Amino acid sequence: MHSLFEILKESVQNNKRKKLNMNFLISGCAGFIGYHISDYLCKKYKKSKIIGFDNLNNFYSIKLKKKRISNLRKNRNFFFRKIDLNDTRSLSNLFKKKKSK
Ligand SMILES: NC(=O)c1ccc[n+]([C@@H]2O[C@H](COP(=O)([O-])OP(=O)(O)OC[C@H]3O[C@@H](n4cnc5c(N)ncnc54)[C@H](O)[C@@H]3O)[C@@H](O)[C@H]2O)c1
Repeated sequence: MHSLFEILKESVQNNKRKKLNMNFLISGCAGFIGYHISDYLCKKYKKSKIIGFDNLNNFYSIKLKKKRISNLRKNRNFFFRKIDLNDTRSLSNLFKKKKSK
C-alpha cells in the first residue's frame, strides 16, 4: 500500500520527466491533512505554486485553522482563498486567474 506522500511524489516525478511544470490545488488546506500536505509541498517544490482553499467552517476551532493558514503564508509559493467547494463559480474563477499568471 502506498502512502499519500508516495503517490504525490511519484506523480510529480512523472511530470518532471515529461518536463511539465506542476502547480497544486489543495482543498481543505486549513484542516489537519490539507495543512500538512500544503506545508510539505511548499517546502519540497519551491518552484511550484501551492494554491489552497478552505471554507473555514466551524466544525472545530476557526482560530486554529487561521493559525495554520498564517503559517502556510510564510511560504512564498503558497496562496490562500476562502472558498467553499460547492461554490463552483468562485472555484472556476480561481482556475482562470491562476492559469493566466
Ligand atoms: N491529531 C490531531 O490533532 C487531529 C487534528 C484534526 C483532525 N484530526 C483527525 O484527522 C482526520 C482527518 O482530518 P481532515 O484533515 O480530513 O479533517 P479537517 O476537518 O481537519 O479538515 C477538513 C478541512 O476542510 C474544510 N472544509 C470542509 N468542507 C469544506 C467545503 N465544502 N469547502 C471548503 N473547505 C471545506 C474544513 O474547514 C477543514 O479545514 C480526522 O479523522 C480528524 O479527526 C486529528
